[in-house]
Amino acid sequence: MQTKFIISALAAVAAQLLLPTEGSAQQPAPVSPQVVEAYVKGTWKSPPEGWQSRIDQDETQKLCSQYRNSPPANIAQNIVAREKATVVFPADGKVLGNWKDGEKVAQTGTGGQFTDPPDAVKGGNCYACHQMAAKELSFGTLGPSLVEYGKIRKYKPEEAKETYAKIFNAQSVQACSNMPRFGYHKFLTEQQMKDVTAYLFDPESPVNKP
Ligand code: HEC
Repeated sequence: MQTKFIISALAAVAAQLLLPTEGSAQQPAPVSPQVVEAYVKGTWKSPPEGWQSRIDQDETQKLCSQYRNSPPANIAQNIVAREKATVVFPADGKVLGNWKDGEKVAQTGTGGQFTDPPDAVKGGNCYACHQMAAKELSFGTLGPSLVEYGKIRKYKPEEAKETYAKIFNAQSVQACSNMPRFGYHKFLTEQQMKDVTAYLFDPESPVNKP
């Protein structure tokens, strides 16, 4: 379904791009956001229960789409301020859980997909975008390498707290980040976010071993 959705959305964009425009044969017509939006919505006629909110864009997503992830400075500032206000820190004040469980969160890319049962444990899929432990063979490079993340930050508690906030809501730090907002969307649990923060900040974690 997801592949179909992407193909449909791409087809809509391609159709727009290929439309000949009068007087400017070489210039593709600009893609109308309304057309793309309508097309995307049209591919999700009967979303699974609870998925409607995942299709509707919130204010931040609308702005990021409008400015193609490069909003002007004042709008970026507003986004960061709004997203920062959504961050909820653990009630017990501890942002570090168990790094071994955090490693699983980082390595798991399943859960929350339309093919998964609704009660499947969700993973953070961090490795899809980040190198984390130097020993790991396979990782994506959309995000920066996080090798020795805690070590470089001298395992400072305030750095760990900021990292927890980053994982909770990436846009509380950078407007229109390509990183998912794990806590904001309640995609990961508080415990999972603590565990993955520990994966980055525990001196015993493979992340901090060369
Ligand atoms: C879809 C890709 C993607 C996924 C999945 C992802 N990230 Fe990221 N992440 C990024 C990108 C892109 C950046 C750089 C831009 C930014 O800072 O938001 C980033 C930045 C970060 C940073 C800040 C890095 C710095 O320079 O200080 C941390 C920490 C981080 N990610 C941790 C995680 C963790 C932990 C997970 C899994 C729970 C995760 N990321 C999952 C894309 C991703």
